[in-house]
Amino acid sequence: MNETNQPGKAEFMASVAARSSHGLRGDYSRMRDDYTVEQDYSRYSPDHQQVWRRLYARQHELLPGRACRAFLSALESLDFGDAIPSFDAVNERLHAATRWKLVAVPGLLPDEVFFGHLARRQFPVTVWIREPEEFDYIVEPDIFHDFFGHVPMLFDAQIADYLQAYGLGGLKAQQLGGLKYLARLYWYTIEFGLIAEAGGVRAYGAGILSSPGEIRHALESPQAHRERFDLIRVMQTKYLIDDFQKTYFIVDSFGQLFDETAPDFSLLYRTLARLPELEP
Ligand code: PHE
Ligand code: FE
Repeated sequence: MNETNQPGKAEFMASVAARSSHGLRGDYSRMRDDYTVEQDYSRYSPDHQQVWRRLYARQHELLPGRACRAFLSALESLDFGDAIPSFDAVNERLHAATRWKLVAVPGLLPDEVFFGHLARRQFPVTVWIREPEEFDYIVEPDIFHDFFGHVPMLFDAQIADYLQAYGLGGLKAQQLGGLKYLARLYWYTIEFGLIAEAGGVRAYGAGILSSPGEIRHALESPQAHRERFDLIRVMQTKYLIDDFQKTYFIVDSFGQLFDETAPDFSLLYRTLARLPELEP
C-alpha cells in the first residue's frame, strides 16, 4: 500500500493518535492508496438508519430562515431524509450539475490527500454514522456532517469551483508554509461561512448547517460576532475546534468569495507571517 508517494498510512495514523487520546474513529484497514473505500451499504443497521432519520428531521426543521438558498434548493431536490444516502445514486446527479463526485473515506485524511481529492473535484465523505449514544456529540465528522452539511453546497457552481481552487491552493500552500492560513480560510468559509441574502444573513458553512446548536448560535446569538468577509482578517483569525465559533464572516455572494481568493497567495503568506494572529 505504501509504495506510492501518498503519505504513509501508518505514519498518518500514528500522528493523529499522538494528537488525541482516542486515535481515529474510522476503519482504515481496507482503504485504497488514495484513502478511499467502498461505501458498503449493507453495514448500516436499522439503528443507524434511525439515527440518520432523526438527525435529518431535527436539522431540517431548523433550516427555514437560516440556511442559504443554494443549500435549501439542493437539499429539497436531493430528498435524502428517509435513509442514509447512497453515494453512487447521488453521484450521477452531482456530476451532471457541477462535475463533482463523492468518494467514500474512512474518516479524517492527511492534508495532502484531502487537497488532492478536491483538486480533482472529488469530495471525500466519511462512511460511518454515529451510534445512538453519540447523537449529540461526535469526536470527528461522520456521514451526517459530511453529507448533510457539505453535499448540497457542491451543487452550487461557484462553491464547486471555489473548492477545487482551494484544493489546488492547498497543494501549493504546503510548499509555501501557508497551510495554517489556508486552513482558517476553509474553516471560516466552507465550514462556518455566512452569506448576506435578500431576506437576511444565512448559513452556507457545513459546520453550521449540520449542527442544531451552532445554527441558532451563528445566526441569532447576541454573543456571536458577525463580520464582513475580509481575506486577510480571516487568515489571521484563530478558530475554536471544540466550541461554537465566536466570530463568523459574511460574504455578499459566492462569486465574491471566488474572486477574492483567486489571486496568487504566495506573497500573502509572507505578509501574514509578519502580521499578528487574532484571537477567535
Ligand atoms: N488563490 C490561491 C493561491 O494562489 C488558491 C486558492 C483559491 C485558495 C481559492 C483558496 C481558495 O494559493
Ligand atoms: Fe466539514
